[in-house]
Amino acid sequence: MAALHFSFDRIAPVYDFLGYLAFGDRLQQAQKHFLSAIPPNSHVLVIGGGSGKIVLDLLDQAAFRQLTYVEASAVMLRQAKKKIADYRQTNSKDSLANIIFINGTERDIASSERYQVVITNFVLDMYEGDALDRMMQRIDTLLLLDTYWLFTDFRYSLQSAKRWWQRPLTGLMYLFFKITANIRVQSLPNYDAHFERLGWTAEQQHSFFGDFITSRIYRRTTELTQDDSSSDS
Ligand SMILES: C[S@@+](CC[C@H](N)C(=O)[O-])C[C@H]1O[C@@H](n2cnc3c(N)ncnc32)[C@H](O)[C@@H]1O
Repeated sequence: MAALHFSFDRIAPVYDFLGYLAFGDRLQQAQKHFLSAIPPNSHVLVIGGGSGKIVLDLLDQAAFRQLTYVEASAVMLRQAKKKIADYRQTNSKDSLANIIFINGTERDIASSERYQVVITNFVLDMYEGDALDRMMQRIDTLLLLDTYWLFTDFRYSLQSAKRWWQRPLTGLMYLFFKITANIRVQSLPNYDAHFERLGWTAEQQHSFFGDFITSRIYRRTTELTQDDSSSDS
């Protein structure tokens, strides 16, 4: 597995509970918002899915053909596998047979793989600068030309009247994740700039929690050639 300087293993057992305490059901609502846009029969890639709630939402709302679930934290991944095992007890959807779990990062996915949909929820905010560019570039090379990138994350509102509480709250969250998970980032990235550099643009978006959480569908605006898209980085 590619080495990361941070780990969510320690915080994993209480992560969902703390998220609910702080934001109620908004984190989950935001993550579900665009799932119905996933084309039927897609091969979906989830990066940093955490404890696996997103898989249950996908099983309920999207008719995917295959799902690859990549999670760096072994403890988070164990929770996700347990959720799916429990779900299997009472459900018999065909797609349940087609879920692949990878304990690792986007670097641990075979370069020959190609996906129609990628989901990155509350994970790009763990990176900044070149590290974020490298991560997104790697994901980009694993995607087909006609791809949906579903993104949900915290962001600073464009309305200054809302930013006054968002900046200190963000600072507190990053301090918490520095102590519990060794996250080094201190402020939210300008996601659009990173997506634009790769040739993606937000086609739809919806805001939650006073505009502090955004859920977006990004689509490619510039065409890659398949040669570009298959080059390893
Ligand atoms: C803040 S948590 C969010 C979890 C989940 N998306 C949610 O909203 O509940 C970020 C998760 O991403 C995982 N993660 C961070 N970087 C990753 C990467 N490059 N590849 C896979 N997982 C990653 C962490 O281990 C952690 O579980």
